[in-house]
Amino acid sequence: MQTQLAQLVATATQEAAAVSTRAEMEAYKARIVGPNGSLTAVMKSMATLSKEERPVVGKLINEAKKAVEEILAALQQKIENSEIGAALGAAVDPTLTSPDAAAGSLHPLTRTRERILTTFRKLGFTVAEGPEIETEWHCFDALNTPPDHPARDMQDTLYMPKSFRSADAPRRGEEALVLRTHTSSVQVRTMLTRKPPFRIVAPGRCFRRDAVDATHSANFHQVEGLWIDKNVTLADLRGVLDFFVKETFGADAEIRLRPSFFPFTEPSFEMDLRSPNLGRLSNRWLEIMGCGLVDPKVLELCEIDSKEYSGLAFGLGLERIAMLIHGIDDIRHFYNNDLRFLRQFA
Ligand code: PHE
Repeated sequence: MQTQLAQLVATATQEAAAVSTRAEMEAYKARIVGPNGSLTAVMKSMATLSKEERPVVGKLINEAKKAVEEILAALQQKIENSEIGAALGAAVDPTLTSPDAAAGSLHPLTRTRERILTTFRKLGFTVAEGPEIETEWHCFDALNTPPDHPARDMQDTLYMPKSFRSADAPRRGEEALVLRTHTSSVQVRTMLTRKPPFRIVAPGRCFRRDAVDATHSANFHQVEGLWIDKNVTLADLRGVLDFFVKETFGADAEIRLRPSFFPFTEPSFEMDLRSPNLGRLSNRWLEIMGCGLVDPKVLELCEIDSKEYSGLAFGLGLERIAMLIHGIDDIRHFYNNDLRFLRQFA
């Protein structure tokens, strides 16, 4: 039986070489595994074997069957390839580029994001991410913004339906899921999963119930920054932001930190930028981001010892920076997919 099967596989291998069309392959297949095929015949003869012989022979048959299946699969591939070749004809060179394949280009927001991240990488920041659908706790509570805090209205949050579940942001009990109103939620996730010291920048999409106009979009992008270490100070905050602004807007750009309020930083500031190279916005103080030192309460909520560590944080609007860099006067241009706009950045 063993030699018979070996012979069968050898013949099948030999004959396969002569098969070159689909019809030939069907006939070949029938000769081996069809109702009257050679392998089928061996399989039928199993019935005449003794109980002891059966498992031994069964194993051999299975091996032969596998060998035949492999030959058939290879034949199938060979025939398909030759059919494709025949259909294309000898005149077609599939490696030539098509004359109408215009190359695409990166979206201005993508370019601006990469430019910003490159700047912060130079200062040792690495990129972190978090979910766009976020728990209320990560978006607000852990950032010292309790449910009755006016900041929750101020940001006018979009809530997910009560029944919604997200694997990336499991809910605790009855808390709601929201579309994150800022990337500060990534601060929380980073503090909870990494051991200080660390410096991260978190780019991402944010959502607010804003009416859309030239400077507002219900869906926009931020880049968040967080640096936690021993003795991080306001001088570090100024240094980091000054470096960012000079890299982005040129060596003669200046910054100013104006006292402000955020529940998660203390002290808090708005950072203003002034530059002589901003067209009609030149030489004016322009507000471009919120920042401050991480409130010790936030460190504690995120399981970092506030006696040992301090931190700085900032959050900037990507669209705002891209608009200043390129002199764009309406945020809606970014989302209209008008090629006349997009081609200017190619
Ligand atoms: N999250 C704030 C906002 O969206 C910005 C911010 C980030 C402020 C980090 C301070 C520190 O407006």
